[in-house]
Amino acid sequence: MSKEKNVGEEAIAVHWKEEELIPPKEEFIRQANMSDPKIYERFSEENYPECFKEYADMLSWDKRWTQTLDASKPPFFKWFVGGKLNACYNCVDRHLEKYGNKAAIIFAPEPEDEPYQFITYKELYRRVNEFAALLLDMGVKENDVVTIHLPMVAELPISMLACARIGAIHCEVFGGMSGKSVADRADDAGSRILITMDGYYRRGRLLDQKAQAEDCLKNLQETKIEKVLIWERYPGKYSSEAPLVEGRDYIINDLLKNYRGKRVKPVSKRAEDVLFLMYTSGTTAKPKGCQHSIGGYLSYVAATSKYLFDIHPEDTYWCLADIGWITGHSYIVYGPLAIAATSVIFEGTPIYPDAGRPWRISRDLGVNIFHTSPTLIRMIRKDGPDEPAKYDYHFKLMCTVGEPIEPAVWRWYYEKVGKREATIIDTWWQTENGGVLGSNLPALKAMKPGSCGIGMPGIFPVVMDEDRNEIEAGSGRAGNICIKRPWPGSFQTIWKDPDRYIDTYYRKYSKLGSKDYRDYIYFAGDGCMQAADGYLRLLGRIDDVIKISGERFGTKEIESSACTNEEVAEAAVIAKKDEIKGNVPDLYVTLKPGYEPSEELKKKIRDKVRSDISPIAMPHKVYIVPDMPKTRSGKIMRRVLAAISNNENIGDVTSLENPAVVEAIKKQVQG
Ligand code: WTA
Repeated sequence: MSKEKNVGEEAIAVHWKEEELIPPKEEFIRQANMSDPKIYERFSEENYPECFKEYADMLSWDKRWTQTLDASKPPFFKWFVGGKLNACYNCVDRHLEKYGNKAAIIFAPEPEDEPYQFITYKELYRRVNEFAALLLDMGVKENDVVTIHLPMVAELPISMLACARIGAIHCEVFGGMSGKSVADRADDAGSRILITMDGYYRRGRLLDQKAQAEDCLKNLQETKIEKVLIWERYPGKYSSEAPLVEGRDYIINDLLKNYRGKRVKPVSKRAEDVLFLMYTSGTTAKPKGCQHSIGGYLSYVAATSKYLFDIHPEDTYWCLADIGWITGHSYIVYGPLAIAATSVIFEGTPIYPDAGRPWRISRDLGVNIFHTSPTLIRMIRKDGPDEPAKYDYHFKLMCTVGEPIEPAVWRWYYEKVGKREATIIDTWWQTENGGVLGSNLPALKAMKPGSCGIGMPGIFPVVMDEDRNEIEAGSGRAGNICIKRPWPGSFQTIWKDPDRYIDTYYRKYSKLGSKDYRDYIYFAGDGCMQAADGYLRLLGRIDDVIKISGERFGTKEIESSACTNEEVAEAAVIAKKDEIKGNVPDLYVTLKPGYEPSEELKKKIRDKVRSDISPIAMPHKVYIVPDMPKTRSGKIMRRVLAAISNNENIGDVTSLENPAVVEAIKKQVQG
């Protein structure tokens, strides 16, 4: 990245204002899982990396590890080496004795007339075992990658846990992703099995999910999915229009009748074996398969669920993220279940049928920990600002994740949703990280609207400038947030692409080639500013990644989809600021000679993105422009397009190859 494009400075110049500190309530502190300030000392640099033993000790190991951190081949780090365990055993079996009859999962269907389903740990154990036995009979072997394309239903964690039980690697693709996106990921992962569902509810409609599986199979390039396993949304009734293919498609609910009472011994895995792949967007069109370990990952998410999200077994915890993204993996499934929590899974969208829905669910289920994203907070604030007050629910803790939250939105969340009773944690992290990196332990540090707080225990964030200097806290300068030491929750590499792992995350600030792991600094790709008190304020992505409604898409992915239309010559996507979704993508295209702009063509281009990627990634506006603003070397200046879309100052464009086109585009967009 060039120096001119210094991170997020425009954003800061406009918005930066120091906010007040708000201490947590005494009542919260008294009951908190972690109220000992010494934890930060225990996890200081002097005690690193052995401090993380404390996290691993929260798990049940078949064999204890011999080495906490093996950093002999940086930046490929191994945690708890020599240890053996099973993730499913840790999330299910070990709770049976004490919590067998307690709800592990509460499923809240979208249709309000369908009852909540309470799945106890015993019931979860039964269902996971039976499905694991079925998977074995389907030929799934240890270390096979099983692709999952499920919506927010209890069958999703059941499928994940069954894979973990038999030592297979699961790879869930967000249920709202198109069949083509599933195919791209299954190809990269080399999957032979797909687990899906016939349909699920979204905004009152039963969507056909199995149809996406057909699309997926059509689009596969390198791999062959031999079997498609289908859960039924209503067992006994197939709800998809897509026909079943003999010998390839299997209705799981039918087959399970043959597996009543079947038990499968959990496979004892090495700590550094792979638990799952989670694809995420980067700066090229090809998504990255983040490869997560078993021992390190599970220790980290279990400990952070306990200390940060403050989950006690008697709480009811509801995270509204989708399990198809990392937040759901770590903080709906693995973290909470590892510590015997009760975790709510909601099928629908929180503003359907009206913005009172989240508060009815919270009231009905006695939710006391509520976890969501700024986009959802902005949505419920817009659609039903007075709804929370109408319902009798009480949160002790609320969380926000996934995007920067504006202080004004934060205050509304605190005052109206939390009724000034709840403590808020703002949690900064990424798919790559496995668990939260930047946030305040809620009983120990005061809240500050718009800041996530400081590094988590054992996590050492640092803000760096383009010349590899650390930027001092309180200097008022923004820079790139980096992490100085490896941590157990981190991904291990990019699946089948170790070079890309090094290039993307370690090349910028590390001394590559060094044998000393302390020379390796993780580069996150986010702009950040650190206040004098050490609190971090995240400013958003500095690369070609856009967060739309808190979900992560690469501009290149959308651009490549646009370029698959025969009419399109060039495409450039930029993030247009949006009051509710944070950002929406605006797409600029030029056409090949012989093609004319038209409304139909714009629609065709938008629809292509929808079917190639996901409805969420669909361009807000498509602009067919005569030419792109370009540097003399021919690089498209997305920054200029972004300024036009956002009605911001375009700056000096005289050095461009074609400065005149900027005025023309501006006229076209701004009128
Ligand atoms: C952004 C989601 C500000 C950030 C867990 C990061 C945030 C990207 C926050 C990762 C936060 C996440 N404040 N920005 N509390 N949390 N981000 O991989 O830009 O879906 O790089 O992981 O979300 O998104 P991902």
